[in-house]
Amino acid sequence: PTAPLIDRFGRVHNNLRISVTDRCNIRCTYCMPELVQFLPRQELLTFEEIERFVRVAASQRITKVRLTGGEPLVRRDLPVLVEKLAHVPGIVDVGLTTNGLLLSPMARALFDAGLRRINVSLDTMDPGRFERLTRRPGFEQVIAGILAAREVGFSPVKINAVAIKGETDLDVVPLGRFAREHGLELRFIEYMPLDAGNAWERDKVLLASEILDLLSREIGPLSPAPDQDPRAPAVDYDYLDGGGRVGLIASVSRPFCGSCNRVRLTADGKLRNCLFALEETDVRALIRGGASDDELAAALRDSVAGKWEGHQINAAGFIKPDRLMHSIGG
Ligand code: GTP
Ligand code: 5AD
Ligand code: SF4
Repeated sequence: PTAPLIDRFGRVHNNLRISVTDRCNIRCTYCMPELVQFLPRQELLTFEEIERFVRVAASQRITKVRLTGGEPLVRRDLPVLVEKLAHVPGIVDVGLTTNGLLLSPMARALFDAGLRRINVSLDTMDPGRFERLTRRPGFEQVIAGILAAREVGFSPVKINAVAIKGETDLDVVPLGRFAREHGLELRFIEYMPLDAGNAWERDKVLLASEILDLLSREIGPLSPAPDQDPRAPAVDYDYLDGGGRVGLIASVSRPFCGSCNRVRLTADGKLRNCLFALEETDVRALIRGGASDDELAAALRDSVAGKWEGHQINAAGFIKPDRLMHSIGG
């Protein structure tokens, strides 16, 4: 059998995040500017190209894929891609991270295509703040999408809330209550410097520890979950009264790079070995240039082998990658 995708730091990579489009139907300030030049269609990998790469990746012991964007549901016929990927031998888990706006009418088709894990981004329970953060209306549609996902059988449905000090502090508790009421797994994400307009500052990071304090004071005591996945970005806590689970993704205050198991493929077919990578491997050029499966596998192995120890957000010399969040996929 093929050796695992292991890097210089001993990290085994089994998780591939695939961005299927850089487009989005909203404009979250922490992710993209109002005006963007989107990729022309011919620069996007086709479903066939994505499927081929996933087959090769699976032959190299990638077992999990997650579809991201931009907003993945604006890519036409996404359930068709889900079905293709769910059938790739070796792929045991296909997930999706969405803003939820288009989810309600698509939830059933996605489930039937074989998707089982769904994460929906929602940063506030206040419709006015939703519009300021996303620069678009749509709060009610997102709520409908979340509830529809539960209804068709996704379990768990996770909610991703980016936490920004001075902006979403007052949302922590209402989101906590909403999630508890509907049996959703809520995760708060520390704000990372991948936004448009260089608005990120360290002082705007609402810390995981502060969020935990708020929730346990206002909603109920929490304790570390017994069944943690040590390689997942989120550290999970359970309400002592059995009322549900909360996750904290402390990318800034407690980086989890040491247990990273991820590589990323952008919508235009560039392989990134880190969210914050400064270099990429041009998989699309290889595919369109007639590369063999062995050559694609070698490109993947080389990318992983060249991975650095981790992001440098907390270092003096931090360099922001050229790409913004919407063209990486988170
Ligand atoms: P699960 O499979 O449900 O654990 O999904 P996930 O949490 O890995 O993925 P999701 O797309 O929901 O991402 C949640 C948040 O974690 C986003 O803000 C991502 O940018 C962030 N994130 C995901 N993977 C990484 C990573 O490798 N490094 C860092 N720093 N952040 C990540
Ligand atoms: N910092 C942290 N998380 C972010 N996301 C988008 N931009 C940022 C940022 N600057 C989140 C989205 C989505 C996930 C893929 O990444 O809200 O839930
Ligand atoms: Fe779109 Fe997601 Fe960025 Fe929001 S976070 S603008 S939903 S890509």
